Amino acid sequence: MTLSDRTKKLKSSPTLELAAKGRKLKAEGKDVISLAVGEPDWDSFTVAKTEAIESIQKGFTKYVPANGIEELRKAIADTTKKDLGLDYSPDQVTVTTGGKFSIFACLQVLLNKGDEVLIPTPYWVSYPDMTELAEGKPVFVPSTEKNNFKITAADLESKITRNSKLFILNSPSNPTGAMYTKEELKSLADILKRHPQLLVLSDDIYNKLVFDKSGLAPHLLHVAPELKDRVIMINGASKTYAMTGWRIGWAIGPQEIISAMTKYQSQSVSCAASFVQRATFKAIVEGDKELKIVQQKLLERKDFAVAEIKNVQDVSCFNPDGAFYLWINITKCLNKKYEGKAINDSRDFSYTLLDEQNVIAVPGAEFGMEGYIRLSFAIESLRMTEAFRRMNTFILNLK
Ligand SMILES: Cc1ncc(COP(=O)(O)O)c(C=O)c1O
Repeated sequence: MTLSDRTKKLKSSPTLELAAKGRKLKAEGKDVISLAVGEPDWDSFTVAKTEAIESIQKGFTKYVPANGIEELRKAIADTTKKDLGLDYSPDQVTVTTGGKFSIFACLQVLLNKGDEVLIPTPYWVSYPDMTELAEGKPVFVPSTEKNNFKITAADLESKITRNSKLFILNSPSNPTGAMYTKEELKSLADILKRHPQLLVLSDDIYNKLVFDKSGLAPHLLHVAPELKDRVIMINGASKTYAMTGWRIGWAIGPQEIISAMTKYQSQSVSCAASFVQRATFKAIVEGDKELKIVQQKLLERKDFAVAEIKNVQDVSCFNPDGAFYLWINITKCLNKKYEGKAINDSRDFSYTLLDEQNVIAVPGAEFGMEGYIRLSFAIESLRMTEAFRRMNTFILNLK
């Protein structure tokens, strides 16, 4: 076999696998409804689209610095000042091809073989695989439904060893939409202060898609600004400005780490697309009006989805604080049969639901927690109602 050991271990994205199956059924003429997508179904922000077109027409289409254009890095530093009250220079920002590459590069530049990365479960699917690709060891910190899928200070501390290097915090979370309160963050910060070797990767990708009036998720650095030199923040244009296909993300944090990430990017992808950086700059400085509309729409969608899911038998749903997912408890539907086929876990549930009712939902097992599925509510309400109706029919047939 010619492939490297590292590559042989690499799994393909489970959500992409489900999507491929869904596409095949669609091609066969089936009316497939996907509740699996991790992106908004509304359009990218107008200010971004206009700026991208103008930039292309003006010829702003060549290589730019590996860490991104100055005006964008300055806008990111300014927004961070506004959101967190902390000063960062534009040199402490690096712009990447999507937030995903920021996380990837961050793990690559920080981890040595065997370094442990503390990952609360359920987690975003890519954290463990990216950790392993950097030769690190994922150490899972389980949360419970009783605790609204958030880990406690004691949970965190119980998993810290002398090999712990990094803690990944994602609030609001994909897949649950759970968001840590300032008090909860403070108690996590107290633990972090006792373990000075531990760095934090704060994945803030959903921090503006929240359902309270503030429009901004509470942050670890709100409650513990003294941890500033140990926290790398990741964010991007994908979710906030509905720009998933444009591939822009960024990291902001300690200079040494950010510079190393830039070096990593310069030797791999060179830089993020120039005109897309201009467009993202515009979205950050002029996108507030559109963002308010999106936040309101998202809240309405969330309330609608949480109300509608009550029509589905034998499932219960966590009421999310942010992002655009419903995390559904399906334990009452397990260890049953669908026309003779065993439904013992979330994968059996999801794949049979797709085969029988043409509805795509992501199994909780992919996020490291059995007994749940993740549904996206970034979908038009009539389709959502129809998907839930089909799910109910499916569940009523479980014996
Ligand atoms: C929790 C989380 N982090 C990071 C990302 C990366 O997003 P992007 O690479 O599109 O910026 C995603 C996308 O699904 C996500 O859900």
